[in-house]
Amino acid sequence: MGRALDEEQIGRFDRDGFLVVDGFASAEACAVLKASAEEIVENFQPPKRPSVFRTDEQERVSDREFLQSGGRISCFFEAGAFGDDGALQRPKALSINKIGHALHDLHPEFERFTYRPDLADIAADIGMADALALQTMYIFKQPLIGGEVGCHQDATFLYTEPVTVTGFWFAIEDATIENGCLWAAPGGHRTALRKLFKRAGASDQSGDTAGTLFEELDRSPLPALDELVPLEVSAGTLVVLHGLLPHWSDVNRSPKSRHAYSVHCISAAAAYPGWNWLQRPASMPLRSLASPRVVSA
Ligand code: FE2
Repeated sequence: MGRALDEEQIGRFDRDGFLVVDGFASAEACAVLKASAEEIVENFQPPKRPSVFRTDEQERVSDREFLQSGGRISCFFEAGAFGDDGALQRPKALSINKIGHALHDLHPEFERFTYRPDLADIAADIGMADALALQTMYIFKQPLIGGEVGCHQDATFLYTEPVTVTGFWFAIEDATIENGCLWAAPGGHRTALRKLFKRAGASDQSGDTAGTLFEELDRSPLPALDELVPLEVSAGTLVVLHGLLPHWSDVNRSPKSRHAYSVHCISAAAAYPGWNWLQRPASMPLRSLASPRVVSA
């Protein structure tokens, strides 16, 4: 214990369900990820019917690209990027909501950042010595149109038995109330998991399924917004998030973007059901945060 975090930090994570670690990544490391993400978008050729990432439940697009993105690098548009005629309203580079979900295993710079030994040490300090890197996202929170991410628990979307999903969220740019920083409910990780997000049917060879659905587990409401606290952090900060912690981020109506990179890990000892929306191809087994040359079975 305590290789990267001290006892006080570990105690705070256990108490609050989140932990802010200032100065985890250098300005240079942030700049490398930002440039890498921008290059991916530059090289991205939008399909005729692009995948839009909408955040409220009714509108969540569960199309083929989304369901196959667990083993890919895919770009998802902001819902507000298109006009009524379906045409992009602004340059492509200012229209992408996020890139996901296998950056850590398919892009050398994201791989280097994700499998940093000091991140594995932090994971071990909070009880995840056997963390596997499951899913990564580069989130743009674009100026003026950056979408809200409704209050949720990450275990809804990445479920293991028992719950082990843990988020490592890195501010690549300063995150403020103005540009849509994270908000979290202190202690909310000690409440029940409310919902599961599942693939609705078994996928065929092409990856098509009957879509996705939410299954309710517990009817108690997630915290109201006045129970959340804002996590305003500067670029380079790491925020660790327990998988049951309710968290939210607002729309970004400001002229400043709010780039972030997030890594979601699960414990190798936990079971990962096949109905999770995110599935990796058999050719891409998950890798250990601590020893990425060793792949999971
Ligand atoms: Fe989340």
